[in-house]
Amino acid sequence: MKKIIIIDGGPRRNMNTAAMAEAFAEGAREGGAEVQTFRLYDIDYKGCRSCLACKLKERLYKDVCVWKDGLTEVLREATYADGVAFASPVYFGRVTGQMECFVERLTFPWLSYDDHRLLPPKRIPSAVIYTMNDTSDNRRGLRSFELLVGGFYGELPEKAVAYNTYQVKDYDRYAMAAHPKEEKEAWRREHWESDLEAARAMGRRMVVSR
Ligand SMILES: Cc1cc2nc3c(=O)[nH]c(=O)nc-3n(C[C@H](O)[C@H](O)[C@H](O)COP(=O)(O)O)c2cc1C
Repeated sequence: MKKIIIIDGGPRRNMNTAAMAEAFAEGAREGGAEVQTFRLYDIDYKGCRSCLACKLKERLYKDVCVWKDGLTEVLREATYADGVAFASPVYFGRVTGQMECFVERLTFPWLSYDDHRLLPPKRIPSAVIYTMNDTSDNRRGLRSFELLVGGFYGELPEKAVAYNTYQVKDYDRYAMAAHPKEEKEAWRREHWESDLEAARAMGRRMVVSR
């Protein structure tokens, strides 16, 4: 049975990113995969500490970052899985800081300082899931995240995006005049279910790819 890992880089358990990640998980399970989700905000870790153990000549640590903290198991699972999805709300045109720190730790051991080749132990399909207020994901920060992920795995990640999400459940309580409740409601009625379905379909596709 294939194993698919979801890295949820968003802080909120029951909001948009978690829902899109769960839809992706449902699709992957429907496709016959085992799915495990890791919520980065529940884990105690930091980004790469530049210890450079992964660049020692013996290359004992070339697959998984050797720094021991809450991420150790997650890194191992994501490295040897049959597919990985990276889910994040968009913060200032980028993925969250937690996600950036995670990806540093995941990928730096795979970058050879002998010849700059990118050498993941497994070339697996990858996907990104974004949720955001805007109605376009044309952001340099997101593109560079996708290029980084795609550079390591050999092809660009598949993508599913939920635009113009509900940032809060009750817009009447918040000063958010730039995001009128009526527009949010109208957008959600038209798009939310199909956004979830797109994530679900992407989950199903990941299981059958390669
Ligand atoms: C700190 C912060 C920065 C944000 N920056 C952006 C942004 O640059 N572009 C955007 O479209 N939405 C931005 N948003 C909105 C979130 O991306 C959006 O509400 C997202 O769906 C939240 O995901 P969640 O419901 O899973 O927490 C930002 C939200 C926060 C809290």
